[in-house]
Amino acid sequence: MFSASAFAMAACSEKDPVEQKIDSLLSRMTLEEKIGQMNQLTGIGLADDMTAQIRAGKVGSILNELDPGVINELQRVAVEESRLGIPLVFARDVIHGFKTIFPIPLGQAASWNPQVAEDGARIAAIESSSVGIRWTFAPMIDVTRDPRWGRIAESCGEDPYLASVMGAAMVRGFQGNELSDPSSVAACAKHFAAYGATESGKDYNTTWIPELQLREYYLPPFKAAADAGAATFMCSFNDINGVPSSGNAFLNRTVLRDEWGYDGMMVSDWGSIEQMIPHGFCHDLKEAAGKAANAGIDMDMMGYAYISHLADLVKEGTVSEKYIDESVRNVLRLKFRLGLFDNPYVDVTGEDIFYSDESLGKARRAAAESAVLLKNDRKVLPVGASVRSVAVVGPLADSPADQIGTWCFDGEPEHSVTPLAAIRSMYGDKVRVIAEPGLSYSRDKSAEGIRKACEAARNADVVLYFAGEEAVLSGEARCRADISLPGAQTELLKALKNTGKPVVLVVMAGRPLTIGYEAGLADAVLYSFHAGTMAGPGLADVIFGKEVPSGKLPVTMPRMVGQVPIYYAHKNTGRPAADITLIDDIEVGTKQTSLGFTSYHLDAGDSPLYPFGYGKSYTEFSYGPVTLSSDRLARGGSLTASCEITNTGDFDAAEAVQLYVRDHVGSLVRPVKELKGFNKVFIRKGETAKVEFVLSEDDLAYWHSAELSDGDLAFAHSTLVHTAEPGEFSVWIAPDSASGVPAVFSLE
Ligand code: NOJ
Repeated sequence: MFSASAFAMAACSEKDPVEQKIDSLLSRMTLEEKIGQMNQLTGIGLADDMTAQIRAGKVGSILNELDPGVINELQRVAVEESRLGIPLVFARDVIHGFKTIFPIPLGQAASWNPQVAEDGARIAAIESSSVGIRWTFAPMIDVTRDPRWGRIAESCGEDPYLASVMGAAMVRGFQGNELSDPSSVAACAKHFAAYGATESGKDYNTTWIPELQLREYYLPPFKAAADAGAATFMCSFNDINGVPSSGNAFLNRTVLRDEWGYDGMMVSDWGSIEQMIPHGFCHDLKEAAGKAANAGIDMDMMGYAYISHLADLVKEGTVSEKYIDESVRNVLRLKFRLGLFDNPYVDVTGEDIFYSDESLGKARRAAAESAVLLKNDRKVLPVGASVRSVAVVGPLADSPADQIGTWCFDGEPEHSVTPLAAIRSMYGDKVRVIAEPGLSYSRDKSAEGIRKACEAARNADVVLYFAGEEAVLSGEARCRADISLPGAQTELLKALKNTGKPVVLVVMAGRPLTIGYEAGLADAVLYSFHAGTMAGPGLADVIFGKEVPSGKLPVTMPRMVGQVPIYYAHKNTGRPAADITLIDDIEVGTKQTSLGFTSYHLDAGDSPLYPFGYGKSYTEFSYGPVTLSSDRLARGGSLTASCEITNTGDFDAAEAVQLYVRDHVGSLVRPVKELKGFNKVFIRKGETAKVEFVLSEDDLAYWHSAELSDGDLAFAHSTLVHTAEPGEFSVWIAPDSASGVPAVFSLE
């Protein structure tokens, strides 16, 4: 019989076979070969001596090479001609599709259906791995409360819980059942961390975030991605509290490795190590290389910092070889997990698997499921059988490249099916389609086409106006200080409205836009975050009623940009908004003291245009009261919250049911609501579904000081704990973040 200690020793000696292989390889590597594994170069405009560098063991990974023939040849040099035969890993930004493009991630999040995100990532993995890409730089799970930031398009929106669920689904989709399967690609949780907090919504900008806020808001999606097995992480460009992420040992070592026990690989962002020089954090590239290596960045993406300086830094003692070994272990572990040592080449004999019927079908459903119906007066939508003619108007109606959205290097606009093309081919035999763009692109300011567009409107029963933003107006470094509809799109809408015909405004954009005025003019508003290759058929399905809209907002939509940041999980002030008087209602000469003293904007009030989680359907859902299995939650126990939801309308439809919680009183002020669960359920008309959520102590936990009685200690970093405090909690089961009646329970 084993004693406990003998058992522990036996377990120790049975080291994971992958770790044994890494040990053996590492013991044979020179310092230069180790550093070579930490170097990632671009394949675009391959350096003349790339082959020689690979042969010499100076390259660990290549990004942006897409020709499978070239990939195999470079791989052959690595495997057959370098001293140790370590394979390369080929990487690419495959964010929301490779060839078959799904909605931008913000749109996928609007589906509130993790299966949409998983399917999108799976198809992206199958297509991109077929040319030899085995590592993608996705999912991007930076939460953000700033729609000015162009990269909100790539994110899953403002909420850490929604982003956690969607991000984990994407990880599963990219990585498949086995990372070693040739159709799997390693995921990369990026950008670690708090990139979405970028000041003024301007890309790469500075952030200042107390540790409590970092842990409570920005880090949870990354923890969820690590738990879902994301094989790699990427650091962010921004500095946090003065320390750029590329040199941030607290994030990359203390949190990621020590606390979370993460054993994947951490890559820098493109040139982000070198960029610590203009940040003013390092004097030169050598110092930057040292700070990044010491902070736990395993691989240098296109910075030439490691390959140029790490060897000297180790010899001088600035960087310990122990750190180099840890990084190389992480790189080799990724390559073993991907099966590259056994199967380094891409099979080029297979059939082309791009744009399969199944993939296009899923992309079409995703486009439909991520569209959010914001307004539908007089039930203008769906376009019914009595409609004989539609005017298809607007700069986004037939713009194949724009509907693909940002961060799509490999999407092919010639494969996009636009709304105009889809409506013509799907419904052209049932309705007369009168197409007149009115404006030729979203920023077009010329009024020349407006007259013709109005003529088209007058000749039609319904106007379908496809407005929005070109793809190039969102994405990396594509930030806007004014997030209204660009160009003369509002003028065009006004003119269309004046024809007296019902106008359906379909917005196709990379971010929430301030469309309050336009939403007031339109009879119906359907919001689509650039929905990809099949945006046209997906939107046509919704517009003509083949699909019932079920998307809900993954972000709060502001009335005006000055409200930003505006988000549902805000904290209450000591003087919450009440008795709001708007600027136009203030009489001239009104005294300062007569308006009251509560928290709101004179010109915007205190509410968003549309709240987080909001989205209408063609049917109606009636929510019953929230029922709790008990009004007390015991420590370590659980409590079930349930609600009966009846489809009282005329369509079978899906509903994203949302669970929110509020901690009434905390040792630190708590948000007025926090999303803790959601479930998209399909309910036939006339039927009722009971939706249940199980809540545990963990769902109520938050980061605060260990000393519950003293809020001041929140500023003492070392005392932070993640626990639930006793007291009363409200729980809502609701269609969005702004409605519902809560039930109350207490935690002992
Ligand atoms: C910079 C971007 O920030 C990052 O998201 C991307 O993956 C890399 N460039 C590689 O293209």
